Amino acid sequence: MKTARGFFKPLAIGAPAPLRDLPVRVERMIHFVPPHLDKVRAKVPEIAPTVDVILGNLEDAIPADAKDAARAGFIEMANATDFAGLGVGLWTRINCLNSPWHFDDVTQIVEGVGDRLDVMMVPKVEGPWDIHYMDQFLAVLEARHGLKKPIQLHAILETAEGVMNVEAIAGASPRMQGISLGPADLAASRQMKTTRVGGGHPFYKVIEDPRADGGPRVAAQQDIWHYTFAKMVDACAAHGIKPFYGPFGAIDDPEACEQQFRNAFLLGCAGAWSLHPSQIAIAKKVFSPDPAEIAFAKRILEAMPDGTGVAMLDGKMQDDATWKQAKVLVDCGRQIAA
Ligand code: GLV
Ligand code: MG
Repeated sequence: MKTARGFFKPLAIGAPAPLRDLPVRVERMIHFVPPHLDKVRAKVPEIAPTVDVILGNLEDAIPADAKDAARAGFIEMANATDFAGLGVGLWTRINCLNSPWHFDDVTQIVEGVGDRLDVMMVPKVEGPWDIHYMDQFLAVLEARHGLKKPIQLHAILETAEGVMNVEAIAGASPRMQGISLGPADLAASRQMKTTRVGGGHPFYKVIEDPRADGGPRVAAQQDIWHYTFAKMVDACAAHGIKPFYGPFGAIDDPEACEQQFRNAFLLGCAGAWSLHPSQIAIAKKVFSPDPAEIAFAKRILEAMPDGTGVAMLDGKMQDDATWKQAKVLVDCGRQIAA
């Protein structure tokens, strides 16, 4: 059971409305921008209408001497465009909890961006205690600055300890919106021997047994992230929040990016990060169900109007379970079309 924390407490006088009143959003891509760069901020009004979510990144990839400029740039960017009016989610990725920038990130952004901010992405979350702390911290600031709606939290799963605690993280607060896989930091945390940001690795293979005819043996590449990813998706589903594939760093390999995103969509993810404008269209395509699949799913729903029984469609058996699968696809298609 979820514990109501923070803004539900009597202390938070004038507190925001409960999270259950927030609208369901389509979040196929979380588009990262570095807000300390003037030329990037200048392009935001042009990019915003093409994305579901725009995120001002304050953490990794922002140099230490540009942290203050990134925070100020994000506040400026957040107030310069009516993202809500465009139907675009406004997120930020703050610096991690034990960094010298964290306190200023949270306090200045709640004050400077207020109700325009939808989600704070919290990096390197290791356990539910990190979310409890953020929950209380935000409750105090929301009450102080008179916010009308609660800021949601999104955790990045990017340490071995975080993976061990992912289920508790997913259920740590009603503020939890979702979790993203952070394969770059997670690889380092686990001492994996790679320099890649997400995706596969050519050395991670299973080789077939020796062949009786002595012929060449086939070695097939395996998915290096499957265990973590599936664990994260289950934790999110169990707690009613959204799982996301995180970053795909090989910007020069759109084919692999599309395949990685497709695997994530199939496995239950709502979206992925776009680190480069070229990844926006990939995410939009992949995280929108295929029209032919939706059409077939609608036939399943029509064949069993009350969701029970059994039917045959094109030689495939349908029953209550496939009705539920079909509803996932049809609902997803409807949300995107709305
Ligand atoms: C993302 O932050 C990652 O570390 O992959
Ligand atoms: Mg990271």
